[in-house]
Amino acid sequence: MLFYGDSGTGKTFLSCCVAKELLDNGYLVVYRTIDELIKDLREIRFENNYNLEDLLINCDLLVIDDLGAEQLTEFSATEFFNFLNKKLLKKKKMLVSTNLSLPDISKNYSERISSRLLGNFKLYKFYSEDIRIQLNLKRK
Ligand SMILES: Nc1ncnc2c1ncn2[C@@H]1O[C@H](COP(=O)(O)OP(=O)(O)O)[C@@H](O)[C@H]1O
Ligand SMILES: [Mg+2]
Repeated sequence: MLFYGDSGTGKTFLSCCVAKELLDNGYLVVYRTIDELIKDLREIRFENNYNLEDLLINCDLLVIDDLGAEQLTEFSATEFFNFLNKKLLKKKKMLVSTNLSLPDISKNYSERISSRLLGNFKLYKFYSEDIRIQLNLKRK
């Protein structure tokens, strides 16, 4: 699944609800922000952390939060593509969330990444006012 929509529309919240439901039913869910994931990919590549690779690849669900917030480098682009492709080939489940619009995904990422994100994921657009701001206003 790919959750996309503006900031504060509840993407992280719903991702955590999905994760909790699965965890409560005995599934292994791993949550990473995209920054944390890129850091992990670096550790796998340079420190040969195979246990970490196994966890990220073979968990029942990997939640990747805030795609688009990371610094785009050649390393992140290559490693993220390889990782995404490996997961898709093995038919492993992922839940990606992003503040980027679909056109921005195509703009920010190479075609081979954006084509997979837009073509292989179920796309869910999040609509609402910024709930974070609404909650803050209610408190006042
Ligand atoms: N369905 C919901 N019911 C109540 N509060 C929600 C709901 N969805 C999100 N929130 C709250 O709104 C705020 C923003 O949600 P968040 O998931 O962080 O948004 P996003 O990840 O899209 O930026 C958080 O404080 C969150 O707890
Ligand atoms: Mg979020």
